[in-house]
Amino acid sequence: MATLCRGFSRICLHKCVIQQGLHRGYSAGAAYQYILVEKKGKYQNVGLIQLNRPKALNALCDGLMTELNQALETFEGDPHVGAIVITGSEKAFAAGADIKEMQNRTFQECYGGSFLSHWNRVSTVKKPVIAAVNGYALGGGCELAMMCDIIYAGEKAQFGQPEILLGTIPGAGGTQRLTRAVGKSLAMEMVLTGDRVSAHDAKQAGLVSKVCPVDKLVDEAIICGEKIASNSKLIVSMAKEAVNAAFELPLTEGNRLEKRLFHSTFATDDRKEGMTAFVEKRKTNFTDN
Ligand code: HXC
Repeated sequence: MATLCRGFSRICLHKCVIQQGLHRGYSAGAAYQYILVEKKGKYQNVGLIQLNRPKALNALCDGLMTELNQALETFEGDPHVGAIVITGSEKAFAAGADIKEMQNRTFQECYGGSFLSHWNRVSTVKKPVIAAVNGYALGGGCELAMMCDIIYAGEKAQFGQPEILLGTIPGAGGTQRLTRAVGKSLAMEMVLTGDRVSAHDAKQAGLVSKVCPVDKLVDEAIICGEKIASNSKLIVSMAKEAVNAAFELPLTEGNRLEKRLFHSTFATDDRKEGMTAFVEKRKTNFTDN
């Protein structure tokens, strides 16, 4: 499938679905206009979504976000997929929400129509999502990356919240997630000036966990996804829930939730298998139960 799909074409996805007999997860008619989707990794257990609107530097128009959500749903429901990677092009992860689409919107339309309410889907996926960011991650693009669980950046990546230069402010979590990730001073500076930070500065500030050569970035993100996918999907989701609770709950409540989830792992086959495999000095064979 990897060879067949190297070109990421829509027809190719269709062909792969048929040739691989993948009846679950992908609908044979899945044809995306703004994204390219395939499964990667030795065991085809990492879902890769590439934002593919090059003429607009992957500006996140409504159609693109709708397709992204559909692809996430598909991977979320695919029992073989244990992690998801979202990437863009070498020039742009995403240059933000589509300014041309927003230009003439009124307050009444935004407020009444709950504008951008469907942008949150990435942050509610149970499976781990890795953003592989090359080039620009600006405005909604930076916010999309921050909705993911892990951010890897190519050496030339640039992160920014330039909404202030357009007379608006971040609207998809930028003021909240950025502040939690990099602290008040840098978040304020980025949000109030619109200045961008480099991949290396983003790494130093804690926004990204790894900086890679541009041409190695996606492969590195897939390797990370494969490592995650080799663990129990059930337990991975619990671990993700526990880490995410650190952003929502006071310490006592977060620790309480963690303890409950930890205890819950003892109701699973995979916890038993993991510890038994260690004691028997053999590889684990997780069943996601
Ligand atoms: C719509 C965009 C776009 C965007 C780029 N394009 N960003 N279209 N929305 N966010 C389009 C340009 O109009 C142009 O198409 C083409 O992509 C190439 O862009 P250029 O500007 O010619 O490229 P370059 O000179 O290389 O500059 C790259 C850039 C610049 C620095 C990234 O494009 C830029 O500043 N873009 C806007 C970044 C931004 O402000 N993002 C925040 C958006 S607001 P045409 O056809 O015109 O030549 C936002 C709010 C989020 O995200 C709120 C919650 C979701």
